[in-house]
Amino acid sequence: MALAEFLAELESLEAAARQSLAAAADASALEAARVEFLGAKSGRLKSVQKQLGTIPGPDKPAAGKRFNEAKLAIEAALTMAQERLERSATQAAAAPFDPTLPGPRPRLGHLHPLTQTIEELKDIMGRLGFTVATGPEIEDERHNFEALNIPASHPARDPLENFYLSVAGVATGEPLLLRSQTSTVQIRVMESTPPPVRIISLGRVYRPDTADATHYPMFHQIEGLLIDRKVTMADLKSVLRLFASSFLGGDVHIRFRPSFFPFTEPSVEVDMSWHDTHAGGAIRWIEMGGAGMVDPHVLRAVGYDPEEVTGFAFGLGVERVCARRHGVSDIREFYRNDVRFLHQF
Ligand code: DAH
Repeated sequence: MALAEFLAELESLEAAARQSLAAAADASALEAARVEFLGAKSGRLKSVQKQLGTIPGPDKPAAGKRFNEAKLAIEAALTMAQERLERSATQAAAAPFDPTLPGPRPRLGHLHPLTQTIEELKDIMGRLGFTVATGPEIEDERHNFEALNIPASHPARDPLENFYLSVAGVATGEPLLLRSQTSTVQIRVMESTPPPVRIISLGRVYRPDTADATHYPMFHQIEGLLIDRKVTMADLKSVLRLFASSFLGGDVHIRFRPSFFPFTEPSVEVDMSWHDTHAGGAIRWIEMGGAGMVDPHVLRAVGYDPEEVTGFAFGLGVERVCARRHGVSDIREFYRNDVRFLHQF
């Protein structure tokens, strides 16, 4: 057989094979096409191969080369056809799209447990007649210390115990710091309002403490202040007890331990107790913060007359009451931002 005739035959075979492989509509049609063209015994490619022997010697290499190309091309067309059939099989198996089904629900977040606590504390104290006051987180020494009767020599004013800013106040040139307590707001309110006063203030305070299960360099306090005629410590205790039992549940008690704060006289530490159901109902006490009767020096510093009015003040840790309420044993959890923790509240 002449080379030209051989090549022409190969050409038309390749074209016919490509066409029927591409046209095979299912697996059995594809198999039939495969046997027809690539069948090992009597496939059409096999018969063309047999004619290779009749090509004249010098033309043999060219004929063989072209034969191999045609064979590879037909095999590639077979693979493509197989993949095409597999794809349409998996598409058919997938459920048909139903546009009337409801979409996936987006996961809704919620307020952080501390924010929830703050809102609830505002609500409880609001029912007791306390309105919410606010003050800046960057303070001067007058509001954070001096007017609160904390003299310059007091250890609480040590620069190592506070976050002083490296810039001074623009107008005053005085040192500034991140407030270390919300008691600052007592001063701000009394400076701008005549008595009687009945406020709470909730917010962030800052101290360079090492973080552990009960400390964090930034935390929240709830400050309360009540100034009026004839206010006594019994009023303080009643308000704190009502507050604690509303927030933590009925079975809560309040205990005062003698203490010292420069801005109150007398001063107490406030403990709250509850029946620990995890420990067989044993009574447990936990320290919640400080309180006392507002020191006459403080009343005078804001222009009030201590002969006319008296008052009480308290400052409690919001993280502590929130942790107590929910049985959280490490306040650092509140700041890790791990949704597995947060979504429980
Ligand atoms: N400011 C105090 C602190 O941060 C807490 C405190 C104690 C606040 C007694 C008060 C108070 O209003 O009367 O440790």
